[in-house]
Amino acid sequence: MTILVTGGAGYIGTHTAVQLLEAGYDIVVIDNFHNSHIEAIERVKRITGKEFPLIKADINDQSALEAIFQQHKIKAVIHFAGLKAVGESNQIPLAYYRTNVAGTVGLCEVMERHNCNTLVFSSSATVYGNPEQVPIPESSKTSATNPYGRSKLMVEEILADTQRSRPDFWNITLLRYFNPIGAHPSGQIGEDPNDIPNNLLPYVAQVATGKLRQVNVFGNDYNTPDGTGVRDYIHVMDLSAGHLKALEHLQNTGSGFHIFNLGTGRGVSVLEIIEKFREISGQPIPYKIAPRRPGDVATCYADPTKAQKVLGWNTQYGLEDMIKHTWNWQKQNPNGYRS
Ligand code: NAD
Ligand code: UD1
Repeated sequence: MTILVTGGAGYIGTHTAVQLLEAGYDIVVIDNFHNSHIEAIERVKRITGKEFPLIKADINDQSALEAIFQQHKIKAVIHFAGLKAVGESNQIPLAYYRTNVAGTVGLCEVMERHNCNTLVFSSSATVYGNPEQVPIPESSKTSATNPYGRSKLMVEEILADTQRSRPDFWNITLLRYFNPIGAHPSGQIGEDPNDIPNNLLPYVAQVATGKLRQVNVFGNDYNTPDGTGVRDYIHVMDLSAGHLKALEHLQNTGSGFHIFNLGTGRGVSVLEIIEKFREISGQPIPYKIAPRRPGDVATCYADPTKAQKVLGWNTQYGLEDMIKHTWNWQKQNPNGYRS
């Protein structure tokens, strides 16, 4: 069975590609390498010992998508391709709406033309805005405070409308990711941010190698046990495994619309992360308390019960593994895929 993986050269896409190939699926990858490197694809091939077609094209390139569906019998699509930097989305919102929203609409149009009904979409816990309760169940109120978050919410609604329009045809799952961190245990693939990282883990990892001087802890006056922000960090291997479970579930259901949180259900603070990283890496991690980052919430962690019950998905990796594997990747690849 052939799965189209959009954005398959990216952080989550590469880890999922490895697991799909290892599970015996065939894959086709489309990526324009806006935020990734061809070397990531080479490493997926090296880890799995398998070859697969790679199409270097924009998700908005309808003729490229048409050609893929004509040449391959695509059974399902896992749609990772998108832009994901919250700050940048305020500067260039149209690029975010073009790629994330229009790109998904165009993809669904081509899928429909080729009678391909099965889609797994990368959504985000960002759609819960400032959560009204923790742990957060899927039924929580949604909202967005920036163009990135709005693009995810818009796509969620567009996909719900699309499925409602042909309920016996479309088979769609939205996965709301919490905070993916970690890397493949081999250290061959991992997160490779361009420029200075926005997210906590890659930032801390680069402080540990001495590439960055110190971590800025964005606020220590939140209503949390140590005053710093609490998040639900999930190993990228567990997150990727959730996509295979979602795919199996869609194959069993035939048609429908489903939403699942992918998180561990456990909240961890910024200071806990720094301390754990220091312990595991054996490196000093200097930090200073900085002002709160606009748009940040105090606490965000999942209620993952639905994915556990319905998908039979459970996390396998703990915080130690997440940090150990992040460090392993960072040490082996101090300059990411350019190393
Ligand atoms: P990533 O940037 O590493 O991967 C996205 C991939 O899409 C990259 O390889 C990029 O080159 C590609 N891409 C971007 N624009 C494209 C376009 N116009 N056409 C074709 N390819 C394009 O990001 P990731 O962390 O792997 O995230 C994957 C998905 O999951 C994204 O949709 C993201 O919004 C979502 N998500 C990520 C996180 C996270 O923390 N990483 C959290 C929640 C949701
Ligand atoms: C951020 C995005 C969110 C996105 C998610 C995954 C914002 C406001 N939110 O979430 O939309 O879905 O990434 O890509 O950007 N922190 C520091 N110092 C740093 C970096 C982070 O103290 O240098 C703190 C943050 O304040 C937060 C925690 O670490 O409390 C995690 O931050 P981050 O990794 O950026 O993830 P989120 O803020 O959860």
